Amino acid sequence: ADEQTLSGKHVVVTAGGTQEPIDPVRYIANHSSGKMGYAFAQAAVEQGAQVTLITTVDLTPPPFTTVVHVKTAQEMQNALQRYYEAADLVIMAAAVADYRIAEPATQKMKKQQDTTALHLKLVENPDILAELGAQKTHQYLVGFAAETQQLLQHAQVKLEKKQADLLIANDVSQTDIGFGSADNAVTLLFKNEAPVALPKMRKIEVARQVLQMIQLRMEEA
Ligand code: C5P
Repeated sequence: ADEQTLSGKHVVVTAGGTQEPIDPVRYIANHSSGKMGYAFAQAAVEQGAQVTLITTVDLTPPPFTTVVHVKTAQEMQNALQRYYEAADLVIMAAAVADYRIAEPATQKMKKQQDTTALHLKLVENPDILAELGAQKTHQYLVGFAAETQQLLQHAQVKLEKKQADLLIANDVSQTDIGFGSADNAVTLLFKNEAPVALPKMRKIEVARQVLQMIQLRMEEA
């Protein structure tokens, strides 16, 4: 059997889209299914890692995984702060909302009779990945860039701005890959390296291949 390359390592994976409440019955969400994050958790378990999965969705987790359920970006941030110090590798596959409702209503909002427009006030959420990048001591930090245009340019900017070691760029304008799909085709932007494009394959295969490439670079560091 192949050697398990991540045994003794702590891997933290985030998965799913955050849910930002408007009132007790409504929220702002996005199309993230969480499948890519769960695939990374699965691949890391296969390599012998101790895995913590911080997730907004409720898919079947891989065995031996610590699952932490969160809904909002702020809850995800709190969970990551608890696990970051002990982590060797953090994979931010979650689609974190950039904004949240400034003051969610405590009671269900009623339809207004006197106006046709409703204005919601949003405030900026913390950029969790950028925060982790700024706090980094020994952790290997991986982010995603889901874009509909100028994929690599946007991903390269994020890699540097968020001080990540790898940005996984994902073209979400193509409907046969990405959101909800079992398949994905990604381009890898490792820090100080030329981009590596992977062909379309099952998300679990993407996770296995990318994890192998990460592990080689973690050993070099
Ligand atoms: O939303 P954006 O394209 O900037 O996301 C890029 C990376 O940053 C993703 O890995 C995502 O999980 C992370 N992110 C975050 N906190 C945010 C927004 C994004 O950690 N508020």
